[in-house]
Amino acid sequence: MPALLVWLSGWLAAGLLQQGGAASWALAGGTATAAAASLAIAGGVRRLIAALGFPLSAVALAWVEGPVASFWWLAALAPLALAYPLRAWRDAPFFPTPAGALQGIERIVQPAPGCVLDAGCGLGHGLAALGRAWPQARLQGVEWSAPMAWLAARRLRCARIERADMWAASWAAFDLVYLFQRPETMARAWAKAAAEIGGRPGGGWLVSLEFAVPGVEPAARLQRGGGRPVYVYRIDARSGRRRRSTAVPAGR
Ligand SMILES: C[S@@+](CC[C@H](N)C(=O)[O-])C[C@H]1O[C@@H](n2cnc3c(N)ncnc32)[C@H](O)[C@@H]1O
Repeated sequence: MPALLVWLSGWLAAGLLQQGGAASWALAGGTATAAAASLAIAGGVRRLIAALGFPLSAVALAWVEGPVASFWWLAALAPLALAYPLRAWRDAPFFPTPAGALQGIERIVQPAPGCVLDAGCGLGHGLAALGRAWPQARLQGVEWSAPMAWLAARRLRCARIERADMWAASWAAFDLVYLFQRPETMARAWAKAAAEIGGRPGGGWLVSLEFAVPGVEPAARLQRGGGRPVYVYRIDARSGRRRRSTAVPAGR
């Protein structure tokens, strides 16, 4: 939504300039407005995507003119819809775990987990990092986007990767579930982990890159240099009662 608003601000500025008789300034004015509006968005890559949306769409529109233009715009959405099916929009879009992000986690999570799941495994970067931490672990990933699941399975022959919804798949068989999703996902992930992993003898672990479970104290927080924090949660039979706020977003 922030990116759409930034693009819209560019189009509004360009439209006003065009109507005011300054059509030759429309592209520059729209780009400057979108660039200024994008400053309100946190994160370098997100800001860049937001800032570039207006000039790219304006140039593409000028290039693809005529009656077929709208068809091609729609056609361009097809690969996007394939790579990002709607259900994946509720959680996080693809963003890979950086190579060294989980370094040191093997010293915190002990004994070493035998079976590890990356819930929403994308192209397998998180699984590769987990495999480096625990080379003996059985690695599994679930990913909702079919092309990404297919590519991840080819990239990581040592892992079992399924195209599935991480909320529908059971986590009960895993000693550790790894997530790199978004803040809004974490309360639901905690409730699922508590219900499915908490009941196992010995419990298990929930590990989240960048985003904490609101209201729950992690067993450890790993922070490497200027990198993203890693939150490590111990899951046991009491975990279901440990969250201070009981408001878990219901079955989205
Ligand atoms: C930020 S990426 C993380 C990728 C990978 N875990 C990593 O760290 O390299 C989030 C991934 O979760 C996937 N995803 C989002 N919602 C999902 C769902 N309900 N079930 C399965 N995968 C989902 C997205 O398609 C995306 O590939």
